[in-house]
Amino acid sequence: MQFQTIIEPFRIKTVEPIRFTTLEQRAAALAAAHLNLFLLKAEDVIIDLLTDSGTGAMSAAQWAGMMSGDESYAGARSFFRFESAVRDVTGYRHIIPTHQGRAAERILFTSACKAGDIVPNNTHFDTTRANLEAVGATALDLRCAEATQPSLVAPFKGNIDLVALERCLTEHKGRVPFAMITITNNSGGGQPVSLANIHAASALCKAHGVPLILDACRFAENAWFIKQREAGQGSRTPAAIAREAFDCADGCTMSAKKDGLVNIGGFLALNNDALAAKCRNNLILTEGFPTYGGLAGYDLEALAVGIKEVLDEDYLRYRIASVAYLGDKLTAAGVPIVQPPGGHAIYIDAKAMLPHIPPHEFPAWALSLALYLEGGVRSVEIGSVMFGRQPDGTEKPAAMELVRLAFPRRVYTQSHVDYLAEVILHVHGLRHRLRGVQLTEAPEQLRHFTAKFAPIGGRLLVD
Ligand code: F0G
Repeated sequence: MQFQTIIEPFRIKTVEPIRFTTLEQRAAALAAAHLNLFLLKAEDVIIDLLTDSGTGAMSAAQWAGMMSGDESYAGARSFFRFESAVRDVTGYRHIIPTHQGRAAERILFTSACKAGDIVPNNTHFDTTRANLEAVGATALDLRCAEATQPSLVAPFKGNIDLVALERCLTEHKGRVPFAMITITNNSGGGQPVSLANIHAASALCKAHGVPLILDACRFAENAWFIKQREAGQGSRTPAAIAREAFDCADGCTMSAKKDGLVNIGGFLALNNDALAAKCRNNLILTEGFPTYGGLAGYDLEALAVGIKEVLDEDYLRYRIASVAYLGDKLTAAGVPIVQPPGGHAIYIDAKAMLPHIPPHEFPAWALSLALYLEGGVRSVEIGSVMFGRQPDGTEKPAAMELVRLAFPRRVYTQSHVDYLAEVILHVHGLRHRLRGVQLTEAPEQLRHFTAKFAPIGGRLLVD
C-alpha cells in the first residue's frame, strides 16, 4: 500500500453506546465495589479492557451464519460446518466442541492425566493450571530466560525453555502424559512462540514418545508475529504458518472466545482415536452430545466463520498494530511496559512505575484502581493479588506486578486508544501520589474475583 496509516479493516454497522461518568460517579462506583474492578457494573466503565475473551464484535457474516443455525440435538448441519472449518485450519482428525477453553482442558485432563503426573508448558494459564491440579497433576512452567525480564525486547519471549523441557521429559519418564505450549503466552505478556521453538519442542516430545498439545487460544496472533519476525516466514500466509504449528502437535485445546472471534465457544482437537473416544464420552457427562458440546447450533455457525476470518491478513495487521500503537505511545512517554507489546494486550510494569508501593500493598491493583477512577478504564491486575496466596495459606510476592490492558477484538477504534493513552499518561503523572491497598475480606481461592479492599491510610491518592 502507498499510504502509511493502518486503518480498521471494517466499517461499523451496529453500535453500542458508551455511558460517560464523572470522577465523583466513578469514586462512588469504586467504593460500592469495595475497590475491586470485577465487582463494578460494566455500564459504569468507559473503556473495558478487563479481557479480550468473548468480548469481541462479530461480523455481519457471523451474524448471518447464526440465522442459519441448525438446532438439532444430534448430527446438526451446523456441527458439520464447524467441524469442517476447524479441521481445515488445524488439520486434526477429531474435533470436539466445548462451551469454552477450560471445558476442553477439563475433558482432556480428566481423560488423559492421573494423580502424580507432570505436565510441562511454557506458562500454564490459571484455569489450565487449576484443572491439572484438580486431577492431582503438577503444572510445570518452563518459560525461556527472556520471559521474566519485562523491559527486554526480544522477538519470541513466549518460547518454552527447551533444555528444561528435555530435562523434564528425561527425569520424569512415564509421568508426563503430554507436554503443552501456549500460543501466544498470555501469562507471559501475550508474547509469541517461534515456529523453530515449536518444531524443536515437538522433536523432543517425539523422541520421548510424549504427545504435544497446543493451547491455541491466540494461534492467529502468534502466526502473525511469526510472519513478521521469524526468518524465512515473511511471504507465507498466517493460515499456512498456523497450520505448520498445528502439524507439529498431536492436538489442541482452544478457547474460541479469543481467536475464534466468538462471544462463547471452544473445542478440543485430537489425532489419537482412543483418546478422542474417551474425551467424547467424558464430554457427554457435562457438556452435551458430541455434535454440540454445550453450544447452540448458531454458536457453532459463528465459530465456523470466525476461525477463518481471524486469519485475514488485513485484520491481523490492524489487530497487532492497534496494540503496538498504545505500547509505542506509552514507551515514548516513559511508562514502563512489558516489551515488546504483546498480541492481545499491553502489560504495565507496576513494580517499575510505583517503586514506593511494596508488593504486599499490591501496586498493580492500586494502579488499576487509579486508571478506573481517573479515566473510567477497566484493566486487570496480574500480580500479588492474583498469585500471592500460596496453597499453604502463606503470602509470597508474585514474580511480576503487572496491569493488563486486554483489547477486545474489533471493538475499539484508534480514538479510543488515544483516549486510553491520555488516561494512562495522566495517571503516570500522578504516580508519586498513589498509595497501596490492603485486603479487608478475601476467599481462600481465586481471591481476585471477589476480594474486598481498603486504601492504606484511607486514601488512594494523597495530595
Ligand atoms: N488458555 C489461555 C492461554 C487463556 O488465556 C484462557 C482464558 C484459557 C485457556 C481459558 O479459556 O476462558 O474460554 O475458558 N483467558 C481469559 C483471559 C479468561 O482473560 O485471559 P476460557
